[in-house]
Amino acid sequence: MKEMKKRPGFATRAIHDGQAPDELTGAVNVPIYLTSTYQQEEIGKNKGHEYARLTNPTRDALEVSLCSLEGGTSAHVFGSGMAAITALCTMMKSGDHVVCSDNVYGGTGRLFDKVLTNYGLTFTYVDTSVAENVAAAITPATKLVHIETPTNPMMSLTDIEAVAKICHAKGVELSVDNTFLSPYLQQPIALGADIVMHSTTKFLNGHSDGLGGVLVCTKPEHAETFRFVQKCTGGIMSPFESYLLLRGVKTLAVRMKQHDANGRVVADFLKSHAKVQQVFYPGLAEHPQHELAKRQQNGFGSMISMELGSLKNANAFAKTLRLGLLAESLGGVETLICHPATMTHAAVGAEGRARLGITDGLMRVSVGIEDVEDIVADLGQALDQI
Ligand SMILES: Cc1ncc(COP(=O)(O)O)c(C=O)c1O
Repeated sequence: MKEMKKRPGFATRAIHDGQAPDELTGAVNVPIYLTSTYQQEEIGKNKGHEYARLTNPTRDALEVSLCSLEGGTSAHVFGSGMAAITALCTMMKSGDHVVCSDNVYGGTGRLFDKVLTNYGLTFTYVDTSVAENVAAAITPATKLVHIETPTNPMMSLTDIEAVAKICHAKGVELSVDNTFLSPYLQQPIALGADIVMHSTTKFLNGHSDGLGGVLVCTKPEHAETFRFVQKCTGGIMSPFESYLLLRGVKTLAVRMKQHDANGRVVADFLKSHAKVQQVFYPGLAEHPQHELAKRQQNGFGSMISMELGSLKNANAFAKTLRLGLLAESLGGVETLICHPATMTHAAVGAEGRARLGITDGLMRVSVGIEDVEDIVADLGQALDQI
């Protein structure tokens, strides 16, 4: 993009940043560079690329784009959200301690407790919706506080600004999993976060056709660490999936506007349905953190959980869906419906789920961008089967 006087808006940056027309041909899309290596002009002289595990022009373009959208200083993409969180934890050394939201994606807790504890890291889980809990859990060994807001699947929020202040007063870094809202609806770096993490598999990709993860950073030492980790561990995003993500990001603003609009309508509908015992959605006035959602988010998004009372009820609903798809994952253009107890949070175990309020009757809806009347009609007819 040629130099503009004023910083372009989000939708403009989503289409243009990192995505300048190809210099060789003028192609308006970044080509997919399918190459594992690059010819060098002479020993020690190359055109900026040596080997594709280190750099790839398609991936580089994507990193510029995501960095711009989250307002960071560098971005580093990986083969999945879990690979990004694994890379994040390489910032630490044996003996270091992490404070984590007690309600994060089940796979995050599984990585921490079942893999990384074997390497001498320790983890404390607290309800980070109460910022004082974070302050109380930080020890001299704490290096990182990792939060998810809203949490998966209970839609509990953490005050990013308040937690960032606590972290910085104690010399600890704050990372935020921003997967549920995307940078269009929430900007954690502007609120004080040091690192933003995404499963790009979700809203950033938006079409349920590619896995990926990203860390967006704010300090030169992060860039150095994560570039080195990409090179050393090799868990990078492929050129093809980088291209899919570049393509997905171009429509992020319009998609998120529609997700947000549809989410509000569906939450209101579910709230009024006799078979739904409780709705968890920060956009509802009765959500305990509705005011915080209004303050720190640019909308409420399209992730909604609802309590249907029992596994039998949940299954009666799930198996009669016609439009909504019973599936793991979220953030696609299609409405995706998941049963956290047996899907995303199976690894947490029955006791852990009971503590977090994840019952067998809880269903999570990732409201898509189909015509909202069709989504409502489908959810309604499926709920009527209970
Ligand atoms: C909030 C959140 N973070 C991280 C992940 C892990 O991402 P991935 O499946 O891309 O590895 C997920 C996956 O569902 C998620 O929902």
